[in-house]
Amino acid sequence: METQDQNEAKQEEKQEPKELAVNGNVSLSGEIPPDFSLTPCCEVPKAKHPRPVPEGAWEMSTEGKVGLGQVPSRSKRQQARKLAIAFRAKKCFFFDRKHESTVLTKYMSSGEYVVMGGCCYRPFLEEKFAEIAFLAISDSEQVRGYGTRLMAYTKERTKELGLTHILTCADNNAVPYFKKQGFSKTITLEKERWQGYIKDYDGVTLMECVLNPKVDYLNIPCMLKAQKMCLVEKLKEISNIHIVYPGLDPNVRKKIRLEDIPGLKEGLEQSEKSLGKKIPLESIAAPRDPASLQALHKELQQILTQIKQHQSAWPFLEPVDPETTGALDYYEVIKNPIDLRTIQERLDRGDYYVTKEIFAADLKRMIENCEAYNGEKHFITELAHNLERFFNQKL
Ligand SMILES: CC(C)(COP(=O)(O)OP(=O)(O)OC[C@H]1O[C@@H](n2cnc3c(N)ncnc32)[C@H](O)[C@@H]1OP(=O)(O)O)[C@@H](O)C(=O)NCCC(=O)NCCS
Repeated sequence: METQDQNEAKQEEKQEPKELAVNGNVSLSGEIPPDFSLTPCCEVPKAKHPRPVPEGAWEMSTEGKVGLGQVPSRSKRQQARKLAIAFRAKKCFFFDRKHESTVLTKYMSSGEYVVMGGCCYRPFLEEKFAEIAFLAISDSEQVRGYGTRLMAYTKERTKELGLTHILTCADNNAVPYFKKQGFSKTITLEKERWQGYIKDYDGVTLMECVLNPKVDYLNIPCMLKAQKMCLVEKLKEISNIHIVYPGLDPNVRKKIRLEDIPGLKEGLEQSEKSLGKKIPLESIAAPRDPASLQALHKELQQILTQIKQHQSAWPFLEPVDPETTGALDYYEVIKNPIDLRTIQERLDRGDYYVTKEIFAADLKRMIENCEAYNGEKHFITELAHNLERFFNQKL
């Protein structure tokens, strides 16, 4: 059964003659008939040292719907061939004996298995890396997580083979996908191990994924959950954020004193311990009456004006502009950006800074962001520290 996309792709193939090469041995040009199948033009020599197929490696399946298999049979080869046509692939690597392929198949209600995608790679056993030569998911099935699943199977398989790295020459438009699969443009594998073994093409980016033998790539969510649980257990040793206190009784109408709020005192004590200074209970309460809120805002405005006029404040006056500053990845690295203009806007709103602590927390975050992005020794971080010393005196 063919999808509309495959038909469209075929139409396109019909319009412009393209050359198809398989294994570098067979090449065809012109129209490709729908029932095209490939007969090898030479005898495929027997492997001198055949590698035993590990048990279960080719029959893994998920939920009985998506299966994994090599591309051994003629019908599967035809499917793979059709897939290559559907992907408008000019070259097809499926049949090189030195390559392996993981193929995702989908079980259709008609009882057929339809190829949804595949990853063809060449393991270099001695050099302990694999090169992905071809990777694609059918047009109609893309961006639904199948590419990630396919990569996870490929990683598990290459791990089984004792390999430590996967390399690929990624098409430039596929670079973001590979990044999300743990690939990087930084190649850490020693050049002697890969140079001369893999092919180089124009318009591609060489990328590397370092395999971690301890990671079960087919069970990442479970691993993350387990790690989170360990982290939470560790946090319990130094924090009491996991303790849930009974809430206030909604039927009690009398005025509630701060010290009557369950858990508040304990939380404050812990903050005092980590900050090393006393925090008066009343300082954490937001003033309710408009007059004291107005007084607070007046005080904060005076402090903010002085901060903005400070000679070290200039890098923090406006939100970071990645273009003019050259910090192109700023908003990828800094997830909670803040700057003096944003602080001013929050102050102007009137209802944001209901305590001095919230105002101070924004200023502190501005300094921490600067340190995190620029590093300790950068001159902008020095300016940030000057400014921090200044506003700490004022607060
Ligand atoms: C690249 C390809 C295999 C990805 O398969 P897929 O099934 O779409 O991938 P997934 O659904 O698992 O996507 C994983 C993530 O990568 C992102 N992604 C996938 N393709 C992307 C692309 N081309 N550009 C940017 N992001 C992409 C997805 O949005 C998703 O992000 P999320 O985890 O934040 O949601 C598929 O798009 C494809 O076959 N492309 C054409 C062939 C190709 O370019 N192959 C690579 C040759 S080197």
